[in-house]
Amino acid sequence: MQLTLLSVLALAASVHALPADSSAPVASVEYDRRTSELEIRAATPERISSQLRRLQNKYATSFANFQLNEGRANPLLNASSIGDVVARIVANAPAQRRAPSGTVPLTDVQNELLWVGPLSYGTPAQTFQLDFDTGSSDTFVQPGLYKPAASTSSTTNGQKFRVAYGDGTMATGTVYRETVTIGGLKVKNQAVGAADQSTLDDTSSNGISGFGFPSIAQFKADPVWVTLYKQGKLGSKAQFAFGLSRTKARLDLGGVDKASYSGSLVYSKVDSSSGFWQTPGTLNGKAINAIIDTGTTVVVGPPADVLQICLAAGGTPIVTPSGTSVQVLCGYTPLYRPKFVFTFGGASYTLSAESEAFAEQDGLTIAGIIGADIGLANAWIVGDTFLQNVYAAFEGLQGGNTRVGFAPRKL
Ligand SMILES: *[C@@H]1O[C@H](CO)[C@@H](O)[C@H](O)[C@H]1NC(C)=O
Repeated sequence: MQLTLLSVLALAASVHALPADSSAPVASVEYDRRTSELEIRAATPERISSQLRRLQNKYATSFANFQLNEGRANPLLNASSIGDVVARIVANAPAQRRAPSGTVPLTDVQNELLWVGPLSYGTPAQTFQLDFDTGSSDTFVQPGLYKPAASTSSTTNGQKFRVAYGDGTMATGTVYRETVTIGGLKVKNQAVGAADQSTLDDTSSNGISGFGFPSIAQFKADPVWVTLYKQGKLGSKAQFAFGLSRTKARLDLGGVDKASYSGSLVYSKVDSSSGFWQTPGTLNGKAINAIIDTGTTVVVGPPADVLQICLAAGGTPIVTPSGTSVQVLCGYTPLYRPKFVFTFGGASYTLSAESEAFAEQDGLTIAGIIGADIGLANAWIVGDTFLQNVYAAFEGLQGGNTRVGFAPRKL
């Protein structure tokens, strides 16, 4: 059954009044895939490298935020790989109440964001199309979009932010406290950013809304989903869920949408101490420490592990030097497709042919499972290549009982 946004919202209003143990979503956001399949298929080696650089920079920023918040290094940081990058971001962090000094180097970066959905700031609502990202924890929009003067609920103490992306700076701006509306649910005093300078490609999304944990938030404030829960908008469970397909996406808030998956959700315990949705699993029998990241297109793991998994699965590894390490792509021909099987909580999920194929190179299809040293210590980033195959539920506040649940996604 295909529910329209309006009918889901109408349903949501009534569900909200039900007893707290109801597991249906309180609200849902349905949205579109931004990047066409064609663009992905045309991915060149340069584009893959630039995506990996961006990914490294995103994680370096989260590691720096963690260090500033917690006063210690993130447990997942590989200091010998990107310790210097993280230290530089920490050193350049803007003081709470003054403008950042120096100029912002602007570089064009290839945007890899795939999904954008509506979220509004202010009164009356100013609506933006944002990338909902479980791999980061701040919400901010690109320059010129948010008009604080046009909102009666806008306040700021002048707090600045700077989202650094390693070689340059991706965005700087001001943090506001605002009323935020998502899926018809409204919260007050949410910390949100408005960039004044940015290198994000503004045709692709209006910004990012992070669904990670507070300890990697630069704004030193709760992410939107935590505020929704604390202000009583999600019912009894701090829960949200994503259903991502190649063309459509949905975000369910405060429960799960049973029509979006088959069987039942199988949960796996999350270690939230790093600020990420980190959970143990396996890939083709090898134990992996997985960060579940809706804001990343592919799956990225240690080069040696990806090489071994690719060879064992009958793929053709393509190994190229990359800094002090190597980058490993796993190629295959249509005649023989390697099988990739993830397990979480003991349940297994096999990648579909469609989700597995990420790019074409030299007549080979390149799998969306890439080996690269991006500065994580023995952790894997598990993004859309895997998530397209499942409906994924995220549950619990940082430091509490946190878990992720997966079930095969229903079309
Ligand atoms: C950490 O980074 C170094 C340098 O890139 C690399 O050789 C090493 O394998 C990495 N360690 C882990 C645990 O990923």
